[in-house]
Amino acid sequence: MLREPEELQQILDLDLKDCGEPQEKLLKRCRNVIRYSVKTCHPRFFNQLFSGLDHHALAGRLITEMLNTSQYTYEIAPVFVLMEEVVLKKLRELIGWKKGDGIFCPGGSISNMYAMNVARFHCFPDCKQKGNWAIPKLAAFTSQEVCSPFKKGAAFLGIGTDNVYLVAVDENHMAPVIVLLAHYENIFSPPMPVLVVLPFQGALPFFVNATCGTTVLGAFDPVAKIAEVCARHRVWLHVDVMARLFFCFPHRADSVAWNPHKMLMTGLQCSAFLLQDSSGLLQRCHCAKATYLFQTDKFYDMAYDKGDQTIQCGRKVDCFKLWLMWKANGTKGLEQRVDRAFSFTRCALGCKSGANGPEFINLCFWYVPPSLRGQEGCTDYSLRLGKVAPVIKEQMMKKGSMMVGYQPHGDRVNFFRQVVTNPAVTREDLNFFLDEIERLGRDL
Ligand SMILES: Cc1ncc(COP(=O)(O)O)c(C=O)c1O
Repeated sequence: MLREPEELQQILDLDLKDCGEPQEKLLKRCRNVIRYSVKTCHPRFFNQLFSGLDHHALAGRLITEMLNTSQYTYEIAPVFVLMEEVVLKKLRELIGWKKGDGIFCPGGSISNMYAMNVARFHCFPDCKQKGNWAIPKLAAFTSQEVCSPFKKGAAFLGIGTDNVYLVAVDENHMAPVIVLLAHYENIFSPPMPVLVVLPFQGALPFFVNATCGTTVLGAFDPVAKIAEVCARHRVWLHVDVMARLFFCFPHRADSVAWNPHKMLMTGLQCSAFLLQDSSGLLQRCHCAKATYLFQTDKFYDMAYDKGDQTIQCGRKVDCFKLWLMWKANGTKGLEQRVDRAFSFTRCALGCKSGANGPEFINLCFWYVPPSLRGQEGCTDYSLRLGKVAPVIKEQMMKKGSMMVGYQPHGDRVNFFRQVVTNPAVTREDLNFFLDEIERLGRDL
């Protein structure tokens, strides 16, 4: 059960003191940390896009923590440097790229930000040295469904959040080809033979993001069609992938962000930024050539020192947990895990076999309490319906029975979003989930 912050602070006694404490007391503290933390691997945790626990990935995480090395040079992380290359190559192959580059990043938002930075550098290499003063005002595009990582990126990179243009989606929230094409063609027409030079509200379009599996509704942008438009106008196409890679054909993208820490349960964090370029763009874009790390007179091939490809200096090892999990399950085993998540969603929706199933695994729904049933025509119906999910959520949190997320979306009032990625979830858990919502909400 979730306690109020003041109460929890009191229980935990978090203040740091001058003198150390005996082991027994520390053990008790560790027990308390576990006791009062949310167990995201619990089969009744449906709150996030990540959940569950893969034991092989966990073993990888523990070993990584124990070895406590940094991924930046071959000399300090020989095994993991070689391993990262193998994993990234395999991921690129799944996309359908024969060559390319990439890096593991601290999360999807950062991977998306990398994409914006590399795209900007690709258009305007001078920007790295001279800053935004040396280049025109830029415009980036993403659908209104997934904007926050790109707004954060635009703010961080000095592009400005006002210069992230949000593309409208249709009533199914699945950015239809027609709408997108019209939108992009309006922006980019007439077709330009070189990098986009057409001003858009005084800014130059340089970056388009397409999403495969949007955060709330799990919708898919039509990547292949968007790729056609981007290729025609030589604009960098980035694809933010939540789903399995081959599911959305991002091979025509310039870069891809893919997050095994979500559907695949590698554990936080495991997020790959992949790009098709193999000319060293990533290195040129980020390198600072620190002489204490990247000496040019080492006895081995310096190409193995990948650390200058990133904006970080020290970098955690994120490839091992995925590698070990992949070795244990094989590609087929990982695919089955994704298939299972889909079949749970189909099951929760009551889909018959053969019938058209859900596009993805996000299950979004309202719980309508008996007092509101049949009241759809009333003027305050939406207002009252929007208050149901927060109250049910508060009750389940205080009781500690389960966790599921809710949010408003456009003109839709608060609704629940359930995502089942944890293979430990059983049919009984799914039944409990629905019954518990009913129990907590029937008297509202
Ligand atoms: C489509 C999409 N892109 C990016 C992100 C951000 O990923 P992260 O939490 O790994 O930074 C999310 C988060 O849920 C997402 O749904």
